[in-house]
Amino acid sequence: MEAASLNPVDLKIQKGLMRPILIPRKLPFTPATDIAGEVVEVGTGVTKFKAGDKVVSYLGLSIGGGLAEFAVANETMTVPRPPEESAAEAAGLPIAAITAHVALTQPAGVKPDGTDPKKNILITAASGGVGHYAVQLAKLGNTHVTATCGARNLNFVKSLGADEVIDYKTPEGQVLKSPSGKKYDVVVHCAGGFPWSTFEPSLSTNGKVIDLTPSPSTMMTFALKKLTFSKKQLVPLICVPTVENLEYVVKLVKEGKLKTVID
Ligand SMILES: NC(=O)c1ccc[n+]([C@@H]2O[C@H](COP(=O)([O-])OP(=O)(O)OC[C@H]3O[C@@H](n4cnc5c(N)ncnc54)[C@H](OP(=O)(O)O)[C@@H]3O)[C@@H](O)[C@H]2O)c1
Repeated sequence: MEAASLNPVDLKIQKGLMRPILIPRKLPFTPATDIAGEVVEVGTGVTKFKAGDKVVSYLGLSIGGGLAEFAVANETMTVPRPPEESAAEAAGLPIAAITAHVALTQPAGVKPDGTDPKKNILITAASGGVGHYAVQLAKLGNTHVTATCGARNLNFVKSLGADEVIDYKTPEGQVLKSPSGKKYDVVVHCAGGFPWSTFEPSLSTNGKVIDLTPSPSTMMTFALKKLTFSKKQLVPLICVPTVENLEYVVKLVKEGKLKTVID
């Protein structure tokens, strides 16, 4: 093991909050799922890798094992790590970058080649793991990005490419209002904890809020919006990383289109 990355879900697992959905599968449990390292040995039947290969891997929430000197990675969730990427940069990718990528491309429909009509996007908690990838990925598409973060990170988030950045502790930040008055077509909501009524006035006619920390009230609003054929939608998203997603974000880092920022 050369590097592992911790996500908020690792803390939830440690606190036992995921036990109702049988995560972890068994105890004792070694935390962390997002890793980068070097293959020391392969099992019979493994064809993609050999000892000495540099890799990045997603171990799976119910299995974990990342905070150890050696981990068992499944071939199907492991990809080669190009020499351009440090172990720490690569280990940041699996959950955080894939979630940002899936949120933007699937429910939000942002095309990373910039070929779609311009979308106004709000990204909350843009200085965090998911948010900082989301800003960069959104800017690969044809987008105007408004972002929220803490005061100390305003310049950092701007440097990632956000068009406007709001301190979430200011009155504008509390109501998620775009400084340029734009209505959002998409909100990638990484911050959690805002009621639907906060988003509603700032959404465009067909605006969508993609909620990464869905609560029971998110599910109620989601159902209500569907049942009433509302054009404005709240979309709960739980991302399950795939190897194709992992290959894609690793490729973007290799091409210099995406970076992991470690402070
Ligand atoms: N659904 C899924 O599949 C999925 C996948 C990954 C993550 N998540 C969830 O998404 C959330 C974000 O994950 P993460 O890995 O990005 O977390 P993280 O790296 O811990 O980042 C959290 C960020 O939140 C910011 N923040 C705190 N309160 C805020 C507010 N009121 N408005 C705006 N920003 C605020 C902080 O900004 P400052 O430091 O600038 O103050 C910090 O940078 C977590 O709740 C996580 O559980 C869900």
